[in-house]
Amino acid sequence: MTKRRVAILISGRGSNMAALIQAARAPNFPAEIVLVMSNIAGAGGLESARAAGIEAVTVESKPFGKDREAFERAMQDELLKRNIDLVCLAGFLRLLTPWFVQQWDGRMINIHPALLPSYRGLHTHERALADGVKIHGATVHFVIPDVDAGPIIVQGAVTVHDNDTPDSLGARVLQIEHRIYPQALRMVASGQISIDGGICKNTVTTATEKTLISPAS
Ligand code: GAR
Repeated sequence: MTKRRVAILISGRGSNMAALIQAARAPNFPAEIVLVMSNIAGAGGLESARAAGIEAVTVESKPFGKDREAFERAMQDELLKRNIDLVCLAGFLRLLTPWFVQQWDGRMINIHPALLPSYRGLHTHERALADGVKIHGATVHFVIPDVDAGPIIVQGAVTVHDNDTPDSLGARVLQIEHRIYPQALRMVASGQISIDGGICKNTVTTATEKTLISPAS
């Protein structure tokens, strides 16, 4: 099995990055994490990546100011140097230009802390609580030029409790994120996912019937 070469782009603590690194340690995992790249110097995830034996580099976005494409060209150089096949965004908090997205069309995935297409953008847990939704969750999707949109690969859901705060709800969603991101990467890297008319189809597993009702009666 030739493993797909993966770069993870981060801006912060990198807990999803750590979940991907951990999953990719399994001998039969179809991808290897070869690079972690941060746009923020000193991002917490850089140190944990190095501690896990993964090369971790910073390409700071700040010096490029408003020239987003110049920043992305610097990132692209690093990715090409290492023959990267797939890019995983994991809490990477920079808007990407259509140019960069096009370079990685069908090969770049992102995790978002909401059940897309609900709650694109920021403060997803606050907004879900303000709306009183009873089920919330996270989504892994292919990246397209529109922010927090693109073919959905995997979603995971949690029940919302009456006494939840954004932090308590966010913590439960994060646990789900750490499960669905490795699953989505495994499915994409092993070629199980086809995209047909903007919709992902899983060519291997079939869904098991499960129902989540919230609140339970
Ligand atoms: C995660 O919750 C991720 O879903 C979110 O940032 C957090 C990063 O945490 N991403 C977005 O909001 C992107 N729109 P992490 O650095 O611990 O993985």
